[in-house]
Amino acid sequence: MSQGSEVSELQLNGASEEMDLLQIDVETDEVEDRPGREAAPFSRNVLRKQRHWERQLAAKKSKRKEEKQRRKLNREQDSGARADNPQFSKRVMKAITRERLAEAQSTGFKLCVDLSMTDSMSDKEVSRLAGQLRRLYGSNKKAPRPFHVLLTDLREDSRLYRECLRMNEGFLNYMMDITEESCLDLFPPETVVYLTPDAEEALETVDADTVYVLGGLVDESIQKKLSFSRATDLSVHTARLPIDEYMVKKDNVKNFHSKILAVNQVFDILLTFCNTGSWAEALQAWFPQGKGYVVAQDSKQTGT
Ligand SMILES: C[S@@+](CC[C@H](N)C(=O)[O-])C[C@H]1O[C@@H](n2cnc3c(N)ncnc32)[C@H](O)[C@@H]1O
Repeated sequence: MSQGSEVSELQLNGASEEMDLLQIDVETDEVEDRPGREAAPFSRNVLRKQRHWERQLAAKKSKRKEEKQRRKLNREQDSGARADNPQFSKRVMKAITRERLAEAQSTGFKLCVDLSMTDSMSDKEVSRLAGQLRRLYGSNKKAPRPFHVLLTDLREDSRLYRECLRMNEGFLNYMMDITEESCLDLFPPETVVYLTPDAEEALETVDADTVYVLGGLVDESIQKKLSFSRATDLSVHTARLPIDEYMVKKDNVKNFHSKILAVNQVFDILLTFCNTGSWAEALQAWFPQGKGYVVAQDSKQTGT
């Protein structure tokens, strides 16, 4: 989808939500004006409905803001790369990117996305996961030091595979390994660290001797601790992003605080950490604003 059509779709969504709110206002007036009717229980229902819509509207607004921020960062990265190499045409830049990705396939830090759990996901979640994999690949393409990415446990007869083919242009030419094998068919268990928000230990660094695994999951119908259980079944080490170590809770009207990120968001944080060596910088750049956390002031100052 082009940026223009994304924007107009968002605007349309926003407009229709506001229409819904107006509709509720009208319903409220109609109900309360009707003579001989007991308005109170209806009003309470209508008010509850209105509050629900207001909350949904606020959540969507914050999501739109995050999307905007992400697109801005992507644009900055793109223009940064061109500004660094003004002498190169688009074609040459493309060739350099392919070369960098090919190099990463043999010497880059290794990261698997474990796609063995998609059976428990709805069609909508599978579609969203396909979109997140596209973004993950897009970020890897732009990175100065890309990862060697492997999509593991991805069966050709699966819904996700079909959705990736449908939604992600050029999916079969992505410069990442796509395999039906699992991460433990490919790497010794003692080298694997499964990233999960429920791990006790925080990830300290990223290195060449470890294989990092992200759970290919989308949390619409929140399935708690799924990736942690998967890691326990595989008997591999686990680690969480160092959010407690570098971030603090930020007050917000919904009193909402979450440390669970989408696969591509975790990937962006890892890429930036590898590039800068700073968790504070990586979390500052990519931790979504709507999740109710900000980087602690002292972490920003020390820059670690
Ligand atoms: C949307 S999350 C899935 C959350 C899910 N409830 C679970 O069982 O973990 C998708 C993947 O992103 C990674 N992830 C998300 N937030 C993380 C965090 N705070 N620390 C480490 N990994 C995280 C994990 O690999 C996780 O499996």
